[in-house]
Amino acid sequence: MSEWQKSDWRSKPRVQMPDYTDPAALNAVEAQLSKYPPLVFAGEARRLKQHLGAAGRGEAFLLQGGDCAESFDQFSADAIRDTFKVMLQMAMVLTYGAKVPVVKVGRMAGQFAKPRSAPTEIIDGVELPSYRGDIINELAFTPGARIPDPSKMLQAYTQAAATLNLLRAFSTGGFADMSRVHSWTLGFTDEQEVQKYSEIATRIQDTIDFMAAAGINADTTHEFSTVEFYTSHESLLLEYEEALTRLDSTSGKWLAGSGHMIWIGDRTRQPDGAHVEFCRGVLNPIGLKCGPSTTAEDLKVLMARLNPENEEGKLTLIARFGAGKAGEHLPRLIKAVKEEGAKVTWVCDPMHGNTIKSSTGYKTRPFDSVLREVRDFFGVHKAEGTVPGGVHFEMTGQDVTECTGGVRAVTEEDLSDRYHTACDPRLNASQSLELAFLVAEELSALRAAQSARQAG
Ligand code: PEP
Ligand code: CO
Repeated sequence: MSEWQKSDWRSKPRVQMPDYTDPAALNAVEAQLSKYPPLVFAGEARRLKQHLGAAGRGEAFLLQGGDCAESFDQFSADAIRDTFKVMLQMAMVLTYGAKVPVVKVGRMAGQFAKPRSAPTEIIDGVELPSYRGDIINELAFTPGARIPDPSKMLQAYTQAAATLNLLRAFSTGGFADMSRVHSWTLGFTDEQEVQKYSEIATRIQDTIDFMAAAGINADTTHEFSTVEFYTSHESLLLEYEEALTRLDSTSGKWLAGSGHMIWIGDRTRQPDGAHVEFCRGVLNPIGLKCGPSTTAEDLKVLMARLNPENEEGKLTLIARFGAGKAGEHLPRLIKAVKEEGAKVTWVCDPMHGNTIKSSTGYKTRPFDSVLREVRDFFGVHKAEGTVPGGVHFEMTGQDVTECTGGVRAVTEEDLSDRYHTACDPRLNASQSLELAFLVAEELSALRAAQSARQAG
């Protein structure tokens, strides 16, 4: 086979990508983006790959989360800060349960392009092309807004660069100090309805106090005050991805410079399609969404294609079957992985298989279904003797009302209050943190069972 080129995807069948109407405008944007600096560096992507490898062995745990779709309109420092903040809180709670480092990866700084279940949308008898994310067209329901505009890629790049800049500052500039992060969580568990989580919170506080007494604090210990935070998005708009792909001079390999980790969606994972062709050539860690229609045969081909050297941390399989369905689908895929002796990191996305329409007409996800799918996922891995390596959530630090349930129950009637998502419904800050406490309990039970096995 001749060597991979970043434009090879162009000769493969493509789905879910826009048909730009002005080729000259598209070419001009691609030429411009190709000259811009990459947003991430190869060394960072390699380091994330190592962390994901550890997650695959049960020596780390992945927390991946953020918006379904980042939006140009809702872009603000506060929104970035709040999502970063709640992810740090979740990571701390998960670390407590997992007793291993939590790898933090945002669906941020590039999560703009969306696959859609239908190419058009009909409202009151009017049919228009579907909205495909702010990097492609606009949400407004007018013919002009839905025309794909290549110049939006430049705005997406600028927003991604500014987002990453802020994330890098938050990660090292004192914001991530552990005692400060935990004080926010204590504020949360002080409230009456969530007091059931205060025991774990108190134990974390005791640990922090103990470390402080031993001289470990933000002033003395780097790890106490800084975090590694990585970015990820679906690699859907391949013109954008190709334009940001760079040759890494250290290794001679190609880097997708658009984000640390990129993933292939459930609708674009055709083994001979354009998206797999692009992703197979870059050195970044790759995620692959696995849904109810993923066959064992396809998975085998995809694993060989996306991770030919069977590198640890290279391939993360993101299971998204829906509550009550993991038992039907996950075992056959785990079997395929075992048969191939493939090294993968299994992660649970309990969002995309649990989207329903509420009685009030909103697209929503019940908190209980989300939790149930996570529990199913842990249960199947326990039965199979394999490793649940992480979780993948659509969430925001904002106080939105998009998913129903949680201890501070959001009802179907509440959905209209603060429903701001540009695409799928997200967990709000309180629901996200609550879920972290519940996943931490699953992880604690898993660790306890492992220690008991080792002792016996
Ligand atoms: C997503 O992660 O936003 C998404 C569209 O997921 P999936 O491809 O699993 O449906
Ligand atoms: Co989504």
